[in-house]
Amino acid sequence: MLLRLPGVYRPQHDTQLLAGVLAAERLGPHSRVLDLCAGTGALSMAAAAAGAGRVTAVDVSRRAAISIRLNALARGHRIRVIHGDLTEHVRQERFDLVVSNPPYVPASVDTVPDRGPARAWDAGKNGRALLDRICCQAPDLLVDGGVLLLAQSGLSGVEKTLTMLEEQNMTVDVAATAEIPFGPVLVERREMLERRGLIEVGQTLEEIVVIRAVS
Ligand SMILES: C[S@@+](CC[C@H](N)C(=O)[O-])C[C@H]1O[C@@H](n2cnc3c(N)ncnc32)[C@H](O)[C@@H]1O
Repeated sequence: MLLRLPGVYRPQHDTQLLAGVLAAERLGPHSRVLDLCAGTGALSMAAAAAGAGRVTAVDVSRRAAISIRLNALARGHRIRVIHGDLTEHVRQERFDLVVSNPPYVPASVDTVPDRGPARAWDAGKNGRALLDRICCQAPDLLVDGGVLLLAQSGLSGVEKTLTMLEEQNMTVDVAATAEIPFGPVLVERREMLERRGLIEVGQTLEEIVVIRAVS
């Protein structure tokens, strides 16, 4: 059970799917792991528990950063917590593994929220506000042979993610998929998503995908 300040994303199906793929990676005592958009730090804790040498967790939410610190303390994990925007504080560093479950839900506007719970899921009209930035920036953070594990919805352009990463000379693969019932946010947006052709009329399931890309 993870501690979670109010408004911080509760680990869900996407977190679990990503954690399953993460568990299959070899994380030796010298491995450096970066968890982008870390929320409660669920994936950082999983990496630390799996033996990663140095884990860094980044989140733009102050409450998330506090939650990660508390969770690390409660579990006796040494995790470096950075409160900030995506890669801004780690651009000079290199990692063996970057894991990310970013906001990826298509919204009615392109502006992403700068506060509140929706900052954990809203990602512009096409759901790619964070995904595009991660596809551009993550490859530069990886050592040769380093791995990016990225979760997203089938509603926010899986092919686009694969293409963007391939264009950066990464070897890409869909490592896991799961079909899950629409949560409250998608239920509330169903009409808008149908109108925009992002879902079929009457669709009730969302596909969650984990992409694995090797540098
Ligand atoms: C879907 S939640 C995932 C949380 C966690 N990784 C998990 O799987 O349970 C997305 C997280 O991204 C954070 N976030 C949103 N925009 C960000 C940004 N520009 N830089 C860093 N973190 C961001 C949110 O605060 C939220 O905690």
